[in-house]
Amino acid sequence: MSSYVTRKTPGNTAWFTHDRFGMFIHFGLYSMAARHEWVKSNEQISDEKYDKYFRLFNPDLLDARQWAKSAKAAGMKYAVLTAKHHEGFCLFDSAYTDYKSTNTPYGKDIVKEYADAFRDEGLHVGLYYSLIDWHHPDFTIDWRHPRRNDPNAEEENKHKNMHVYAEYMRNQVRELLTNYGKIDILWFDFSYTEKPAWAKEWMQGKGKDAWEAEELIKTARSICPDIIIDNRTEIEQDIWTPEQYQPMTWLKHPKTGELVTWEACQTFSGSWGYYRDESTWKSPEMLIQMLINTVCIGGNLLMNVGPTPRGYFDSRAENALHVYENWMKLNGRSIYGCTMAEPEFIAPRGCRLTQSTDGKRLYVHLMEYPFEFLEMHGMAGKVDYAQFLHDGSELLFTEKQSEHFSEGRTEGDDLLVINLPPVKPDVIVPVIELFLK
Ligand code: GLC
Repeated sequence: MSSYVTRKTPGNTAWFTHDRFGMFIHFGLYSMAARHEWVKSNEQISDEKYDKYFRLFNPDLLDARQWAKSAKAAGMKYAVLTAKHHEGFCLFDSAYTDYKSTNTPYGKDIVKEYADAFRDEGLHVGLYYSLIDWHHPDFTIDWRHPRRNDPNAEEENKHKNMHVYAEYMRNQVRELLTNYGKIDILWFDFSYTEKPAWAKEWMQGKGKDAWEAEELIKTARSICPDIIIDNRTEIEQDIWTPEQYQPMTWLKHPKTGELVTWEACQTFSGSWGYYRDESTWKSPEMLIQMLINTVCIGGNLLMNVGPTPRGYFDSRAENALHVYENWMKLNGRSIYGCTMAEPEFIAPRGCRLTQSTDGKRLYVHLMEYPFEFLEMHGMAGKVDYAQFLHDGSELLFTEKQSEHFSEGRTEGDDLLVINLPPVKPDVIVPVIELFLK
């Protein structure tokens, strides 16, 4: 059994840490602008101008069943959809606002379509809910807000009441957790209590007090006690969510030093929402390596897709998903139910290790393909059988010394030497599966 113990939290993270790999979906009015989900703030667009997206929103090719099929094929086991992003537009039929997909030409409740489709495919269903809201009349204008430079903003703020907004959030969370079947993850986003030097005093950021986060979380847990909630309300819950960077070691609690449950979230290219002209798409190698690099230090990966305004995944996103599909269908065993290898196992140069949580299998990911021999120290006497994971073909090995004849060959009582074919198999990252004694 794995010896790693993570900090206890209120939610049920057992399925989550087993499943390891999920799909993030960022979809909203900003998808139509196709130039970043922050476009309203980045370009300081007025409500009147932004309203054209609302009037015209019609993702006529949206097929949530197809989304779910693509996610499942890619090996993803859960998903998180933006029920509401910072722009405030709701993809669900909320009784507390008119600013929702059911009031657009599209006319349908997208959260419902999504939740039904993903659940039917056997995936766990998560919802992202933005704490930030640039549309709600009581959400005060702060330094991140699209209207931060509006001359009336400071005066208007005096008439806004964040308590009303906090109650609105509780009401919507209640709707999301009662009207769509069992929701497994609630992904709040995000707190920013800091304020840059240029911002005026009245532009202060917001955190747990503004969100009335304690009440908000209590509301959610009263409906779904074991739901997974992230930490971005500024109140620590179940998961830590490093964004757009890859941690190098298992995340630890800053105060207690305990290992925590964490999920890196990443994009295929720079932005979360559909960005037509963005071109920093990650290579197939990078996509696979990111997943391995996450699981080998005990984390989950939430990979984002930003559907086009017509609702489908464009060819670049499809291609990236196919990269995962091709790799995961043969190598998923080194990811699901796996975690960081026990400290006794040392990764050879250019390799990453994962281990099944029952401790029985060790997976060596060959990020750099070695020539004919892979030497592993500390492994003699520990391995019963070795094979490539992708095709199940046996890999012969010797112990204590390698078979190759040459000066300076490695010897050692603890040495295991695995013989590899000289040509790298046609797999982005080949994996060696070691059956431990
Ligand atoms: C950020 C961004 C946002 C994105 C999110 C995903 O905080 O504001 O647009 O939804 O991270 O992690």
